[in-house]
Amino acid sequence: MIMVLLEVKNLSTHFFLKESRVRAVDDVCFTIAQGKTLGVAGESGCGKTTTALSIMRMLPPAGKIVNGEIFLDGVDLLKKSKEEMRQAKWKELSYVFQYAMNAFNPVMTVGEQIAEVIIEKENSKSKSVKKEAWKKVKESFEIVGLDPDRIKNYPHEFSGGMKQRAIIAMAMACDPKLLIADEPVTALDVIVEKKILKLLKEIQSNYNLGIMFITHDLSVIAESCDDVAIMYAGKMVEVGDASTVFHKGAHPYTRMLIRSFPSILGECKRIEPISGIPPDLANPPPGCRFHPRCPLASKECREDIPPFESFSSSRHHVACFHAGETIL
Ligand SMILES: Nc1ncnc2c1ncn2[C@@H]1O[C@H](COP(=O)(O)OP(=O)(O)OP(=O)(O)O)[C@@H](O)[C@H]1O
Ligand SMILES: [Mg+2]
Repeated sequence: MIMVLLEVKNLSTHFFLKESRVRAVDDVCFTIAQGKTLGVAGESGCGKTTTALSIMRMLPPAGKIVNGEIFLDGVDLLKKSKEEMRQAKWKELSYVFQYAMNAFNPVMTVGEQIAEVIIEKENSKSKSVKKEAWKKVKESFEIVGLDPDRIKNYPHEFSGGMKQRAIIAMAMACDPKLLIADEPVTALDVIVEKKILKLLKEIQSNYNLGIMFITHDLSVIAESCDDVAIMYAGKMVEVGDASTVFHKGAHPYTRMLIRSFPSILGECKRIEPISGIPPDLANPPPGCRFHPRCPLASKECREDIPPFESFSSSRHHVACFHAGETIL
């Protein structure tokens, strides 16, 4: 039986700027099951990081959640007080930031920085807490395949792949139920990328961890995710299990996104880029936000917002008036 770990319902997050309001995430719904990975993909600027930061409640000052509910294990994170949320971070849900591996403090050892997170969570600087924290740092190094003797190294003494492992060690140090990883392998070469993906899979099966895996790289999702969510211009346009979305994707954007990716092993064919650019989210088009670039767009698409409805099964949702229609 599938046990839902995270349920995001009708989430809208906007950035309130001096002269405009950027509708970065608009009425987004999805779930992540316990022990499963949801891959979130879409073009740059479509709202992937803003969705993740909303779940963590770590938005920059201009960002506000204007609607929605976010349930983790049945508890609405948006109803938690700041202190309750602080307690939940790292312990219940943790986050590997986009570009995180470059965010280590260069004048502290990697071990010190991970220990700091654990000590902070315990809210005590007693000797026993510190001792326990260092034990945990060593354990987390082992979990991610780093030599525990390296805990006293500084970030510049680590390679990119090692730093990324250390970031995952930090995220796993307090045994969370949900890990949100924002582009965790984007800056790595393909061999290190494969190792990190394998590592995440191992940690996931050992700890029954739910993972939200954000990437713009569909091949990474195809390889490592159970479910897929496709975002376009702040909207979720299609969500389903990976096989359904990749083989029977019903939203024109999903299909065009897949077609725009080269296949190394499949037959050699010309890739088809999606013409046009995503809309300005301070002034999105009426109706379906994809309609200006969509070959299937009709009057209805230009005027009405397509509902996000179940399509081929109760787990497959698509927001399109022309879902499943052939694109010539
Ligand atoms: N601090 C901010 N202030 C104003 N607008 C912002 C801020 N952060 C993000 N945005 C806007 O919100 C929208 C979504 O951005 P977001 O960073 O979530 O996209 P993304 O899908 O993660 O992109 P990428 O793939 O490039 O990381 C964009 O239009 C972006 O310009
Ligand atoms: Mg991002």
